[in-house]
Amino acid sequence: MERLANATVPPRPWPLRAASPTRAAGTGGERWSNAPFAWLDGAARRRAEAGLTRRTVPRTACDDRLDLAGNDYLGLMLHPKVVGAAAEAAHVWGAGAGGSRLVTGDTELHGELERELADFYGAEAALVFSSGYAANLAMVTALAAPDPDGDPAPLIASDRHNHASLIDAARLAKAAGARVALFDHADPDSAGKALVGSRDRSLVLSDTVFSVDGDLTDIPALARTAREHGAALLLDDAHGLGVVGPGGRGAAALAGLCGAEDVVVSVTLSKSLGSQGGAVLGPRRVVRHLVETARTFVFDTGLAPAAAGAALAALRVLREEPERADTVRARALGLAEGLRARGLEVSTPDAAVVSVMAPSPEEAVAWRGACLEAGVRVGCFRPPSVPDGRSRLRLTARATLTEAQVRHVVDVIATNRPG
Ligand SMILES: Cc1ncc(COP(=O)(O)O)c(C=O)c1O
Repeated sequence: MERLANATVPPRPWPLRAASPTRAAGTGGERWSNAPFAWLDGAARRRAEAGLTRRTVPRTACDDRLDLAGNDYLGLMLHPKVVGAAAEAAHVWGAGAGGSRLVTGDTELHGELERELADFYGAEAALVFSSGYAANLAMVTALAAPDPDGDPAPLIASDRHNHASLIDAARLAKAAGARVALFDHADPDSAGKALVGSRDRSLVLSDTVFSVDGDLTDIPALARTAREHGAALLLDDAHGLGVVGPGGRGAAALAGLCGAEDVVVSVTLSKSLGSQGGAVLGPRRVVRHLVETARTFVFDTGLAPAAAGAALAALRVLREEPERADTVRARALGLAEGLRARGLEVSTPDAAVVSVMAPSPEEAVAWRGACLEAGVRVGCFRPPSVPDGRSRLRLTARATLTEAQVRHVVDVIATNRPG
């Protein structure tokens, strides 16, 4: 065994010295030792100089700080019915799905969740994925794929501020032959211009509620534009499900587009449903196409049973307590109004997300740190996670916050502002 290993691994061609920077003409900066990955140290240092270092920070189970950084909008992540359903599903079906849904990973639970999601959303059918990211890759790439009958790949018109998963999905579709045209954020006229000269099977791609500033795009106007050009509308309702629309039924319901034959919606199970996973909802023929062709369905292990069970239980809680959706929106508005009254530059929330502008990435990080010390956890978004290059604190309201807690959070954020 050892002889075989020695025989097949050639000696290292690069010098084994510590990676220390050496100036090199023509590179515009320093070059590092040519050991593999040594260049990463330089890239990390440049990110640090720009205030853009990112680190994971473990959360402890007994952390009692107010959390306005996570996406558990309805406070269902720790709901006893949701946690209990996750545990029961794991006991019944096992810790993992065990394989791709098409091989061994398709449990009765997956089907039950899909039927209830589709029913809640007013869609003909639903298909669940291991994440919202995977759902978006599936939705876009499968619907933008070249037609085996010879039709050329379609045009995708995509909002400039779309979530990274839609951007990556469009990039993959482009690599397979689709054309991609970006349109100005939340601007249906600009979308119309992007669609001029489009061929059959064109797609308009947009988040419903945008993840950084929490603004809801004008979906009826976007749908009109798409229809004028014979394009289908693909919506990512990750931040809309459970928060907007009647009883949290999402942005398609709010726009009166439930069950429309030219609209497909993706959602994540990881935000208002407090679980993990994603889903695509739409016409039955779309779902059938995804089952048979979407690479993130065919080649991915099915959604873990515990996540499916938790999402199903959360959906049932939302159906029983639809007022949670109204409460979370009211809390988001309360946060925005309170912070604005203290002189801060704040987005106007249409859903649960509120953004507070920071002067610089470094000050955003320090501001978040000061809030954490004061017992309030908030998010801190910096480039490249912000569409306009401006760093901000990102707060997420939740249905379980009291009005007194909202006032306290406003006070902590305003008191600890930079400068
Ligand atoms: C708008 C949007 N779409 C998709 C996703 C991806 O969802 P998931 O975290 O389930 O992969 C996110 C997650 O942050 C999101 O904000």
